[in-house]
Amino acid sequence: MLKGIIFDLDGVITDTAEYHYVAWKEMGKKIGIDFDRDFNENLKGISRMDSLERILEYGGKANDYSREEKEELAYEKNEQYKKLIKQITPANILPGIKQLLEDCQQKEIRLALASASKNGPVIVERLELTEQFEVIVDPATLENGKPDPEIFLKAAELLGLSSEECIGIEDAEAGIESINRARMFSVGVGSADSMKEANYFVKDTNELNLKKILKKFENQ
Ligand code: BG6
Ligand code: MG
Repeated sequence: MLKGIIFDLDGVITDTAEYHYVAWKEMGKKIGIDFDRDFNENLKGISRMDSLERILEYGGKANDYSREEKEELAYEKNEQYKKLIKQITPANILPGIKQLLEDCQQKEIRLALASASKNGPVIVERLELTEQFEVIVDPATLENGKPDPEIFLKAAELLGLSSEECIGIEDAEAGIESINRARMFSVGVGSADSMKEANYFVKDTNELNLKKILKKFENQ
């Protein structure tokens, strides 16, 4: 029986995936590395430092920076990102999400947030959704980022639920892998190609309907 839904934040609850892209792209420009949305798919769900490493590698500059310089680059990206997220209001909750959260509440399905972002709590606060989540996993307490299953397992543990009682919702390939490896039912939001490993996927958040999700979960 489904007892808990564990949500990713960026790209599922709000469109901050776009802000991460914009901020990384700007940082990339400064150091002469350009990348497109296709490459950006590889950064979704990945921690700040791991994202930077992937960008440097992509640009053939993996060995060009010291640890301190890399920390400075990641810091600058985050400052830019923080500027972008200042404009977030509840109006930026993606279509269908409010209804889904309300439907979960009505069915007494418990909610947790499993975001790799250290900015997660601030964003949830700006969206005025903090109350809705019983558990918000602090990514700073984890050993391994997505695609490791740790963050979803931790969310379930904090809810006091087993993996079989939970569903995870993600927009990142790394996130779907993380859910699958936690042996939970995975729901993806995105293209058929990027969500090919998900147990069930929709193209857009407004297609995330609790009844449909429950049906797929029960028939798995
Ligand atoms: C994830 C995003 O949710 O959080 C990634 O999908 C991001 O793109 C990661 O790199 C870490 O975010 P932050 O806010 O701690 O830099
Ligand atoms: Mg995401």
